[in-house]
Amino acid sequence: ATQGACPFRGTRIGGAAGSEPGLDHWWPNRLKVELLNQDPPQANPLGRDFDYAASIETLDYDALKADVRALLHSSVEWWPSDYGHYGPQMNRMSWHSAGTYRIADGRGGSAEGMQRFAPVNSWWDNGNTDKSRRLLLPIKLKYGSQVSWADLMMLAGTIALEDMGLPIQGFAFGREDAWEADRATYWGPEGWNGKAPTEVPAAPQAGHPDQMVNRGLRWQGGPKDEHYDLENPLGASHQSLIYVDPEGPGGNGDPMDAARDIRETFARMAMNDEETVALVAGGHAFGKSHGAVPADRIGGAPEIAEMSAAGFGWHNPEGSGNAENTMTNGIEGSWTPNPTRWDNDYLTNLFKYEWKQTKSPAGALQWEPVDPDAPKTPDAHVEGQMNPLMMMTTDLAFKVDPDYRKVCEKFLADFDYFTEAFSKAWHKLIHRDLGPVSRWLGPDIGGTFIWQDPTPPVDHPQVDAGQIADLKARVLGTGLSVPDLVAVAWASASTYRDSDKRGGANGARIRLEPQRGWAVNDPARLDRVLDQLEQVKAAFDGEGAAKISMADLIVLAGCAAVEKAAKDGGHDVEVPFVPGRTDATAEWTDAESFDWLKPVVDGFRNYIDAAVGYHVAPERMFLDKAALLKLTAPEWTALTGGLRVLDQNWDGSDRGVFTDRKGVLSNDFFRELVSMDYAWTPEDADEARFALVERDSGKTRWTATRCDLVFGSNSELRQVAEYYAGADGEAALVRDFVKAWHKVMMLDRFDVKAERKAA
Ligand code: HEM
Repeated sequence: ATQGACPFRGTRIGGAAGSEPGLDHWWPNRLKVELLNQDPPQANPLGRDFDYAASIETLDYDALKADVRALLHSSVEWWPSDYGHYGPQMNRMSWHSAGTYRIADGRGGSAEGMQRFAPVNSWWDNGNTDKSRRLLLPIKLKYGSQVSWADLMMLAGTIALEDMGLPIQGFAFGREDAWEADRATYWGPEGWNGKAPTEVPAAPQAGHPDQMVNRGLRWQGGPKDEHYDLENPLGASHQSLIYVDPEGPGGNGDPMDAARDIRETFARMAMNDEETVALVAGGHAFGKSHGAVPADRIGGAPEIAEMSAAGFGWHNPEGSGNAENTMTNGIEGSWTPNPTRWDNDYLTNLFKYEWKQTKSPAGALQWEPVDPDAPKTPDAHVEGQMNPLMMMTTDLAFKVDPDYRKVCEKFLADFDYFTEAFSKAWHKLIHRDLGPVSRWLGPDIGGTFIWQDPTPPVDHPQVDAGQIADLKARVLGTGLSVPDLVAVAWASASTYRDSDKRGGANGARIRLEPQRGWAVNDPARLDRVLDQLEQVKAAFDGEGAAKISMADLIVLAGCAAVEKAAKDGGHDVEVPFVPGRTDATAEWTDAESFDWLKPVVDGFRNYIDAAVGYHVAPERMFLDKAALLKLTAPEWTALTGGLRVLDQNWDGSDRGVFTDRKGVLSNDFFRELVSMDYAWTPEDADEARFALVERDSGKTRWTATRCDLVFGSNSELRQVAEYYAGADGEAALVRDFVKAWHKVMMLDRFDVKAERKAA
């Protein structure tokens, strides 16, 4: 820049809104409360009234399928199809969209079409998926907002399988597009797998607070094998990979090591050994890997490519830059002699031949048959040219690992069984984060599976307003306290996570293991409350046609308790209650997969799982919980302050319970929190616990945790807390608490359309 000139002039990035350095640069460790405002309605051009379910109802599914099929077979000049069929590349693009899902926090996955945005759009492992999405553009334009990108991407990969011969289990629509990048998901601490031939952001220093800043869940569960880069909740062995390095961990070419990483990463998305083999051996029956050109000749990822690239990344300067010159991952070749047909050649050849290491033209480590007479595979573009078969180190993993090998042998012996296993595993993979079947749209959603967390249909008349009032009175008449009733309703509903729409009050799985035994739910109290509510239910159900499910009664009891708590504070309110929940059975509950919903840190109940070593400050995990509950900052604040005075600490402790009127819905928490009468004194070296000491007497008046005091220390949250502490604050708090309470109770009620819109 010219000396003396405005420093913002003359650069491409400086000066405009959002230029760095900004807040996060100066204070990288600040609590990012704004993560609660992600993907706001203002960012969505479809507007608040857009009803995707209604849109799918008008969709001609068969016509759309036919359009996708036709596209698979019509090659375009700017990106010619391999073998005259786009099926394999569409399937890989779909798999990479769904495959980011991880069960630990339910984030990732296909449900919002996040492959369209950074960082996922620019991961090295997603190389050339930009081409697959762009190939779909004519269909997207033809149908407009009638079908989302997120759905279209998954449909394309599924129809591709069907077109190549795999029977499918159906397909559900229902993935509504996000309109901006997801900033809350933490993908891992590393840089870009050391492979990106583009700008490589420096890996954060180990232990630097910057990498602990709230980007989602991060804790260490159990001993960490040195070998793994992979932190416990994450779904890939390395940021920028969908799962694992195809050349083996760190490119070491060791199939046994690769097997270990594959097992670990697939388990984190709730896939067992059989499902894992089915998916990979199934997927790699199709298509090829692309490694015609050394990686260092390939241009930048979409997010940093030149404007003239029109949104594409990975510019390839070799020849046409596509077809026989294509460079995606670096490995070159196909697994089978017929890469566009569903058959068992992948496993047959994997087991029939010995494989030796070789290198692709791009320099990647791969394997080819030792036997020169092994079948060859036709070149994807050069007429008449035959190439050796290829396996990746990760493919050989299935042959060398004894447990994977057993699965392969079963699949080899019974192709129909393999076919069904792959078809079902694919169905699970692409629908895993779609939530309850009430969110599944379209005419062909397939069968019922335990991983859908099914709830039975309603088979009785619902309670009316009079019966609701009657039941409220009966519940309060049991002698159960306000804190008891609130605790069980909250425990039931607050398992919900918006990432994969699992959990919530519907199904009343709080009655079942594993939830019933979680320490955070105070099992002794839970038993006591459920026992009383069962009696209320039994008496009511015996009286007439209308019945009340336990799932409904638990919520209704909470509503009654909140009304009483408000009334005891002088506020007459009615807490809305919408019946229609049903009770799930243990048989249809996948206990292992439900255990992932167990909170590690739940600031609403001042709970920290002591058994889990974590290295993120609890208030950051609390923010994460609020984000998964889809709460805004005021809702988060109101709920916490309200639950504190309703005496909701999981262990019955008084930390944060800044009131002498426990069980009354007041703004006492906020008045004490913002008061300058107290000095906040840490009780331990970690500053995990505090005493609120009266400045004049030196006496401890209250005790607290970080999850209490964050509402008084964080600049943004403090503003909300001061509002609730003010003259008109208590009425506002009661109003906002009731609204937020109702929202949480209804988070999983996708069956109640109008309510969903209001939320
Ligand atoms: C292609 C790795 C699992 C379907 C590829 C490629 C790699 C790879 C490196 C080549 C990309 C390119 O250069 O074009 C892996 C690894 C996996 C895995 C390491 C897990 C251990 C899966 C799964 C599926 C799948 C679960 C689907 C169910 C495909 C397909 C292709 C492909 C269809 C061919 C794409 C094309 O022809 O353009 N995979 N993959 N893969 N993968 Fe996988």
